[in-house]
Amino acid sequence: MNAALLQRLRQALVQREGSALRRRLVARAADDHRVNLADNDYLGLARDPAVVAAATAALQAWGASSSASPLVTGYTELHQKLERTLAAWQGYAHGLVLNTGYSANAAVLGGLPRKGDLILADRLVHASMLDGILKSGARLRRFAHNDLDALELMLHEEPALDGVIFVVTESVYSMDGDSPDLRRLASLRQRFGFCWVLDEAHATGWYGATGSGLQEGQGVPAAADIVVGTLGKGLGSHGAYVLAHAPEVRDTLINFAGEFIYSTYLAPASAAAALAAIDRVRELASERPALHALSVEWRDGLCAAGFAVPSGDSPIIPLILGDSDVTLRYAEALRGAGFLVSAIRPPTVPVRTGRIRISLRRGLPAGSLASFLSVLKGVSA
Ligand SMILES: Cc1ncc(COP(=O)(O)O)c(C=O)c1O
Repeated sequence: MNAALLQRLRQALVQREGSALRRRLVARAADDHRVNLADNDYLGLARDPAVVAAATAALQAWGASSSASPLVTGYTELHQKLERTLAAWQGYAHGLVLNTGYSANAAVLGGLPRKGDLILADRLVHASMLDGILKSGARLRRFAHNDLDALELMLHEEPALDGVIFVVTESVYSMDGDSPDLRRLASLRQRFGFCWVLDEAHATGWYGATGSGLQEGQGVPAAADIVVGTLGKGLGSHGAYVLAHAPEVRDTLINFAGEFIYSTYLAPASAAAALAAIDRVRELASERPALHALSVEWRDGLCAAGFAVPSGDSPIIPLILGDSDVTLRYAEALRGAGFLVSAIRPPTVPVRTGRIRISLRRGLPAGSLASFLSVLKGVSA
């Protein structure tokens, strides 16, 4: 390989090593029975018997792959049923399944805004949204995290813009587990007429009477113009979707989004698993209050043990430890004591905010919190 290129690659990796930021893959074994506080299977549906049975039946019927991109032959009756089910569930007229949440965000934000438009985005929106935004050529302004006063001020400052204004937020932030006031966002949208793109990735299954997400949970169903969601978190499958009121959004993605057009489509088995998971999410309505209470219990327990974690009831609790080497030390101790956790470090999160991202789930073994806290105490002692 070209020597100059190799040297450049090595240099960047050595730099990461020096600041305890080098990432390494660790292969998980099927029989790893540690308590999983790292993945996003918040409702435990990836191993739910009904979900696994639906995926197995689809594997038998369709085989292991869709075997083509969607506009060729990859789009099946299962994908169609899934997009219609997702749209009806969340109150939208149109839905489209994409291969990943990353590509869904990149396709929406890279493809709908263009030069001359303005995008107002929360400072902590996911990397996939940012990548799309940067590709779009639109002007970007970022407002302080969850600060809707700051957003409103920006909207007042841009009264005579010629292009379209997009506002981009998540409903549950992936590394902080907190949420904006969606009711206020909905009312700002009414007043200012911007196009609101909302990522519900971490809220699906956890919030709302039917589990459709935080728009339902906060009483503003289908208020956003465009919703991006993923099948790979609360729905225990793999893949993602975009929902919209306007058919033009779906048609534009089908016609112009490279992420959709030029890639082998999601396996039918993943679509079948997601369909079964949606049924399970609806059935689990009576368990949702207990899940929220679990989140409050963990937050209270961590605070009582001297760790400043934010209040809330989402499945994600950021245990911010600061420097990367400290974060790694805590993660090592927790893993050794039987907890699967991951150390989240910059650049995924801002410098000196390294953290264990605690990801709660339905069916955690009794006593998990007490033993988790006793491991933390051992590290800090
Ligand atoms: C807020 C948010 N949006 C989108 C994604 C991407 O979803 P997927 O894992 O389906 O690519 C993630 C995943 O980490 C996320 O946290």
